[in-house]
Amino acid sequence: MHTNCILVTGAAGYIGSHTCIELLEAGYHIISLDNLSNSHSIALQKVQEITGKTFPIIEGDIRDKELLDQLFNNYKIDAVMHFAGLKAVGESVENPLIYYDNNVKGTIELLQAMQRHHVKKLVFSSSATVYGIPKEVPIDETHPLNAINPYGQTKLIIERMLQDIAQADTESRIALLRYFNPIGAHESGKIGENPSGTPNNLMPYITQVAVGKRQELSIFGDDYETVDGTGIRDYIHVVDLAKGHVKALEYLSDYKGIEAFNLGTGKGHTVLELIQTFEKVTGKKIPYKITNRRPGDSAICYANTTKAQQTLHWKAQFNIDKMCQDSWHFQTNNPNGYE
Ligand code: NAD
Ligand code: WQD
Repeated sequence: MHTNCILVTGAAGYIGSHTCIELLEAGYHIISLDNLSNSHSIALQKVQEITGKTFPIIEGDIRDKELLDQLFNNYKIDAVMHFAGLKAVGESVENPLIYYDNNVKGTIELLQAMQRHHVKKLVFSSSATVYGIPKEVPIDETHPLNAINPYGQTKLIIERMLQDIAQADTESRIALLRYFNPIGAHESGKIGENPSGTPNNLMPYITQVAVGKRQELSIFGDDYETVDGTGIRDYIHVVDLAKGHVKALEYLSDYKGIEAFNLGTGKGHTVLELIQTFEKVTGKKIPYKITNRRPGDSAICYANTTKAQQTLHWKAQFNIDKMCQDSWHFQTNNPNGYE
């Protein structure tokens, strides 16, 4: 391929697949790389179906040095969007080494390959988890960083590594995108969040209860200091999030250095508000019980999004009604996921 293209790692995953659509629709050429450890190649076929565009689909691991060299030799890669990583907090507590190996070592391999092939532009999937338990809300990018579990540590270590790289190489162009709570799905209902096993996150759990795969939802605590006692989060539509990546890429074409950006809506909603909205827009009842708080959860977490608005000229457009609608549309179209 002689055209400049974007290497998308973790492209078959939830956020990666939605971002591939936005990149293709914005006219970028992409190469997708995924080891399919937490995803299905069908997601990438759907991306091609939705956009009417084709692209190379590479099944492989970011820790595979030879494969990376091959890709950087065979394609003219202008930038890397790096989604590949493991993301289950509980699993990272039980088996931290898998997380350090996959996320940290994997990113080091990728960065070394980028260095060997003189690729300077990177958009990295970070997370609001790097703020730890928030000291104050809304959280802006200057909030102190503190990881409270091994998954969060991997994100923080990678962020710090990238800061050092940007210091050492002034030609670097790096965006650290700190996502809040992505939910929703592409409005076609063809791609969406497709967790294997029991969902760790709230929205996929809700949709699986609604579709009859699980009996009831457990709400982790109703004694927080919030309007109804349940935890508050900044839920953001995954398509808004995906568009934020395209904006970040555009920004990096004129910017040298490294910047972190919060990608959220700036609005917080409680667990009960999300359930009520889901019930309202879908007409489905979500049975739930109140259980103990989940260890490591904070009461309230939402973003100050001023920096992304002013610098990236990006702002989330969709509200939680639309997020619930689209999550449900995907779940009903794919009651058993992609399989
Ligand atoms: P996902 O699991 O759906 O996608 C990650 C993809 O990376 C999967 O397709 C997986 O197969 C692939 N992958 C994992 N390790 C790999 C490796 N070594 N080599 C090649 N491919 C590999 O998760 P997602 O929700 O799309 O998250 C994407 C990124 O965003 C992750 O880095 C995650 O930590 C980060 N993030 C996610 C959330 C969220 O709530 N979903 C929030 C903040 C940050
Ligand atoms: C949301 C709210 C729960 C499930 C996690 C990661 C974070 C980031 C996003 C990757 C909380 C409550 C949940 C359930 C519930 N991921 N809840 N019953 O914990 O804010 O963030 O995903 O970077 O790092 O920690 O998201 O969806 O798990 O929880 O009551 O079955 O829903 O207590 O208030 P969280 P979540």
